[in-house]
Amino acid sequence: MKVCNTKKEIRTVRDEFRAQGASVGLVPTMGYLHKGHIELVKQARATCDRVIATIFVNPTQFGPNEDLSSYPRDLERDFAMLQDEGVDAVFVPSPQDMYLLGSETVVETKRLSRILIGRIRPGHFQGVTTVVTKLFNICQPDYAYFGEKDYQQLQVIKRMVRDLDVPVEIKGVPTVREGDGLAMSSRNIMLTPEDRIAAVALSRALNAAEEMCVSQSVTARLLSNTIRSRLEEEPRADVQSVDIRDAETLTSIRGRIERSVVALIAVRFGSVLLIDQRVVTPSQVHLQKA
Ligand code: PAJ
Repeated sequence: MKVCNTKKEIRTVRDEFRAQGASVGLVPTMGYLHKGHIELVKQARATCDRVIATIFVNPTQFGPNEDLSSYPRDLERDFAMLQDEGVDAVFVPSPQDMYLLGSETVVETKRLSRILIGRIRPGHFQGVTTVVTKLFNICQPDYAYFGEKDYQQLQVIKRMVRDLDVPVEIKGVPTVREGDGLAMSSRNIMLTPEDRIAAVALSRALNAAEEMCVSQSVTARLLSNTIRSRLEEEPRADVQSVDIRDAETLTSIRGRIERSVVALIAVRFGSVLLIDQRVVTPSQVHLQKA
């Protein structure tokens, strides 16, 4: 596995792959890898001739009071995990190489970046779309892999690629979970042992929502109330938001659910914000009866 610390080095590697006529899959990450990231790598490995992973804790997607400086890092462990999965090259740039002095150009989805998490974290998605565009331009992948875990991020990137005719095919990968259902995240290690146990509330609440949609005809309000009350059964959970949205455009849904929607939840445990999501499709049986 080649470790490239500069744009110049990764461009040379990319040129070699092109000369070999190989297809290239890209897996962008901020490092401190876990099984969720590795699942993206596995999918890339299964479909592409060459796999490039990137590790860059992108400063522009963190707000002034967010956890940029305390974001966990362990490059040696990350490299070993990527090597085990047969990754061909890893790009680990410095912030100075990524953002040249005087950088002033950004990429932004105007509506999608400002709703939901974008309201809580202003500027976050602009940082994501800008860095992802740069990574696409530097690595020029044929395919790029993103987790459904960060559902809004996935939709934002899909929209950006569509709107700007970026020649990359975006692949969404289902969320990888711990044994008890908690979505794997680099932030999970920051939970206290008590909060870690309590955090199972997120996937339980989403399971309840999904079961409800399968067994009866439901409105968006009933669904969100059900999720909220299930979350509030856990006293350690500080519920930040519960949203039922169109699965693709993320626009609000009112009334009876008649198409695929996504339930998006954000819950705070102490200082740690956890997010989770579930796409639910109403049962055809109940749609026909109603
Ligand atoms: P990071 O949080 O490191 O996540 C990298 C990728 O791994 C994202 O696509 C994320 O959705 C995916 N991922 C994380 N946990 C997952 C899980 N449990 N199951 C499946 N996939 C999971 O997301 C970012 O970095 C950054 O915003 C980035 C896209 C790299 C831009 O800086």
